[in-house]
Amino acid sequence: MHKYFTVNTNFYGKTSPDKLIKEFGSPLYVYNEAIFRERCREMANLIPIENFKSNFSIKANSNIELLKIAREEGLHADAMSPGEIFVLLKAGFQPEEIFYISNNVSEEEMKYAIDRGILVSVDSLSQLEMLGRINRGGDVAVRFNPGVGAGHHEKVVTAGKKTKFGVNLDLIDDVKRIIKKYDLKLVGINQHIGSLFMDASAFVESVKYILEVAKQFENLEFVDFGGGFGIPYRKQEGQPRLDLKELGNKLAEIITAWRKEYGKNVRIKIEPGRYIVAECGVLLGTVYAKKKNYGHTYIGTDLGFNVLMRPVMYDSHHDIEVYKNGKPSEGTETEVVDIVGNICESGDIMAKERELPVIDEGDIIGVMDAGAYGYSMASNYNNRLRPAEVLIQLDGTPRIIRRRDTLEDLIRNFEI
Ligand code: LLP
Repeated sequence: MHKYFTVNTNFYGKTSPDKLIKEFGSPLYVYNEAIFRERCREMANLIPIENFKSNFSIKANSNIELLKIAREEGLHADAMSPGEIFVLLKAGFQPEEIFYISNNVSEEEMKYAIDRGILVSVDSLSQLEMLGRINRGGDVAVRFNPGVGAGHHEKVVTAGKKTKFGVNLDLIDDVKRIIKKYDLKLVGINQHIGSLFMDASAFVESVKYILEVAKQFENLEFVDFGGGFGIPYRKQEGQPRLDLKELGNKLAEIITAWRKEYGKNVRIKIEPGRYIVAECGVLLGTVYAKKKNYGHTYIGTDLGFNVLMRPVMYDSHHDIEVYKNGKPSEGTETEVVDIVGNICESGDIMAKERELPVIDEGDIIGVMDAGAYGYSMASNYNNRLRPAEVLIQLDGTPRIIRRRDTLEDLIRNFEI
């Protein structure tokens, strides 16, 4: 039981999984404000240098109430779509606090950002031309591919030789030509090598690369190293955390030497998503059935891949906690089970062949580290309703921060 993250962190504060489900329904996303704020601060202070800023990459989680807290903690934000820009503005972010990292967008989308005074990063010569046409004389950032990638799955490696992202370094002369043609001002360059590294060496390598690239451009205002900072998804096995202090000091050293050479105190930025929000989120679900099919034990729950897609999409591991009568299970007796959902596909498996405390109908399952790429990738597949989201506030009490979908929501875009 002491392996239980939520026990060690007093995650549920003054309430408990069963009370939460009773009040807000099942399944349910639960976030802990104290953990969220702590992660925001860790990233805001990652590199001990002047003129450093961390963005929050809101694709990981764009709940408006969490965005407001992130802003309070001094983070800026990056956006990947007009929708994310819209939500950020609603949450109170100022245009200069938002960075639009675009990829294959229409003129209309690019204009959406430009019209609101938001800086756009482009990642191809075609899109640089497009931006030049619609915003001659304006500011721009360019995303380069530093040639090294990293990530927990090939689907999330976003630099290196096999990716659609970034401008290759051999096209720098073309970038300069287009910038001149449209009288643009290159204010920053950025990169993102991929999502979830636990060994920071590839990230440090990429930082050195991008800083080399930066030397080829005069008068930059910022260099943005991207996100990808990993979290330990296997806490129950004692997986260690990233050593942020060591990484921060290493980066500070590299940046200080580079700034001296560049001759300007250029702003340094990062854009973590997962690190900030994964660990403050738990997805709760309810056990409705238990069966043995050909020797395999299935625990049937409402945790379908419509609510958390990561295990199905990337074979991702999330630690599981079992709650009985509202309390973490003592779990002396265990069995090996598959935790499955209620979606009409055999691949609908949340956790495969796990040794867990014996689970019975009516128990509650907690899926750990579900705050990042959980709700933000949830869908209405099978016309299921997306869950509510609840915040355990600093005083330990719960507050609903997004209501559950209703059946009416499912038909709201039809004329009937
Ligand atoms: N910046 C850019 C340009 C990105 O594309 C991403 C993530 C980030 C920052 C933030 O990366 P993070 O710090 O969260 O690793 N759905 C996948 C992750 C996809 C990440 C896509 N880009 C997952 O659930 O693992």
